[in-house]
Amino acid sequence: MKNTTHAAENFLTGTPLTIDIKSSFEQAQELFSLAGEELLVLTDGAAFKGVLRRRVLEEAMRFGLKLDLADLLEKIPAGEDFSQEALKNPFSAYVLLKKDSAKSLITLKDAFAFAWEDLSENFSLEFPEELSEICTKASEAAKALGLRVFLVGGIVRDLILKRPSFDIDLVVTEKARYFAENLAQKLGARLVKTSLFGTFKLAWRDYDIDIAQARWEYYEAPARLPKTFPGPLRQDAFRRDFTINSLFLCLKTRRLIDYYGGLKDLCAKKLRVLHILSFVEDPTRIFRAARYATRFNFAFSSDTFRALSLALKLKVLSLLSSARLRNEFLRIMEEENPSLAIIFLAENRVLNELFEKVPDKFEIKRFFALATKMRLSPAEKIEAFALFLALREKDLERLDISGHKKKALWQAKLSLKEKAAFLKDPKIPLSEKVFFLEKMPREALLAASFLDEAFILKCLKCFEIKPGLSGEDLQKLGVKQGPEIGKMLKALRAAKIDGTIKPGEEEAFLRKEFADVFSS
Ligand code: CTP
Repeated sequence: MKNTTHAAENFLTGTPLTIDIKSSFEQAQELFSLAGEELLVLTDGAAFKGVLRRRVLEEAMRFGLKLDLADLLEKIPAGEDFSQEALKNPFSAYVLLKKDSAKSLITLKDAFAFAWEDLSENFSLEFPEELSEICTKASEAAKALGLRVFLVGGIVRDLILKRPSFDIDLVVTEKARYFAENLAQKLGARLVKTSLFGTFKLAWRDYDIDIAQARWEYYEAPARLPKTFPGPLRQDAFRRDFTINSLFLCLKTRRLIDYYGGLKDLCAKKLRVLHILSFVEDPTRIFRAARYATRFNFAFSSDTFRALSLALKLKVLSLLSSARLRNEFLRIMEEENPSLAIIFLAENRVLNELFEKVPDKFEIKRFFALATKMRLSPAEKIEAFALFLALREKDLERLDISGHKKKALWQAKLSLKEKAAFLKDPKIPLSEKVFFLEKMPREALLAASFLDEAFILKCLKCFEIKPGLSGEDLQKLGVKQGPEIGKMLKALRAAKIDGTIKPGEEEAFLRKEFADVFSS
C-alpha cells in the first residue's frame, strides 16, 4: 500500500456504526454482537466523541464495573483529511470528520480495499455506451450531493465477465432518496418505486436501476427477512450472498473496491459464501448458488459446500415460505438453461428436501427439452415442474400453487394417468386422443412422463388444425342451423387430424358421411 495522502472524500465509506454515549452497556453489547463490529463510534447528539472498543466493553462487563459508556470512551485519530499513515494507531482506524460529526470510520480493511486501485491499475472494464451515461450522471448527482456512489453486485460481476446486464444496483454512502430524485432528473428516468426500506427504483430505457444506501443487517432467525440499517460499505459487502456479488465499483475513480476477494474468485471461477451460516440465514441463496454455478460454470469453494451441508442438516429449506421458494424457482426458470440448475439442486440433495421423489438427470433433461419446444413461460414451467414432482395434490402448495389452479392441475394429472392405456394404444385414432388432450392444461401434458416427446409435439400441432370449413360455409351448403353443424365440424377436424382427407375434399367428405343431413 502506498503511503499517499488521499482526498478525504475518496474515503467515504458509508455511515459508521454509532451509539449514543448515554446508552447502556447492554445496548452497546447488543449492537456489537448483532453487527459483528469491533469498534463503535460514540456520539453525543450529532457530535463525535470518541470510540468504544468491544474488548474494552466486554472486559468492563466481566469485571462488573459500575461505569458509563463515557468512562470507556477512547480517543482515536480524527480529522477532515486522511492519510494512510493515520491508521498506525492501536485501533487501526481513523474517523473522517465533517464539522464535528463522524462522516466515516476508516479501518485498515477499508483502506486496503479502497487502495485496490493501486493493485488494479491494469484492470480495465468496458462500459457499454448507455451504462456509461448512467454512470456519468450518477457521478454528477453524487458530486452535487457530496456523497459517493458505487455500482455493486451483479452488474459489477457481469462487467468483469463481459456479459450484458440491464439490472443496475447503485449504492450510495448517504441520502439515497435525494440521490434517486437527482439521478432520475438528470437521466430523464422514471422513479417507479420507493420502499419503506429506503430503496428506490428507476426505469430508464431498457435499464432497471436500483438505488440504496449502504446497509448493515442482521437476521432474527433463520430464513426470516433481515433487519437492515444504514451502515458502512464493508458491512454492505459482508451482508451479500457470494464474494463475486460483493464487489463495488467506485464511479468516481472507476476502480474496484473488493473487500472479500471477489475478483480473485471471479478469475478462479469460484462461488464462495461470505460466512458459513450464509445459507442458514437466507436459504434462498442456495437456489441463487445453483443459478450462478451453472450459468457461469463456477465451482463451489469448500466452505460453500460446508455451508450447504450445514443448511441441509438444519432443514432450513422447510422454513422458507412457498412464495419465496416459488420466486427462486421462477428465477431458475428464467435462466437460459434451467435444467442445469435443477440438476445441480437434485444432485446436491436440495430438491429432495422439498419433494419426496426426485427424478434423475435424464428425466429432468427430457422435461426441460420438451418445455422449451412447447414454449412454456417460466411460470408455466414452474407449474409443470411442481406437477411432475408431486405425489399428492398438497405437494403443489410447496411452490405456491393453490386454489383453483392446484385443483385443475391435479385433476388433469389424475385424468391423464387414468387414460394412459388409451393414449398409448396405437389402434385408437389420433383425433380421439387429441380431443381428450386439448382439454388438459399444457403443463399437465409436459408433466405426464409416460407420454413420449414426439407424441406430445404431434398432438400440440394437431391442436392447431382447423376443420377447413366454417359453420357459415356449411349453412351455405344447405345445412340448417343446429347441433348437426357442430358434429360435422368435429368430424371434419378428426378426419384432418387422422389424415383421412386432404384439403379441398371437405365438402365431398361431409356429403358422404352426413348424407342424411344433406338429404333432409
Ligand atoms: N443479494 C444477496 N442475497 C440475496 C439476494 C441478493 O446477497 N438473497 C445481493 C447480491 O449482492 C446480488 C444483489 O443483492 O448481487 C442483487 O440481487 P439480484 O438482483 O437478485 O441479483 P444479481 O446479482 O443482479 O444477479 P442476477 O444476474 O441473477 O439477476
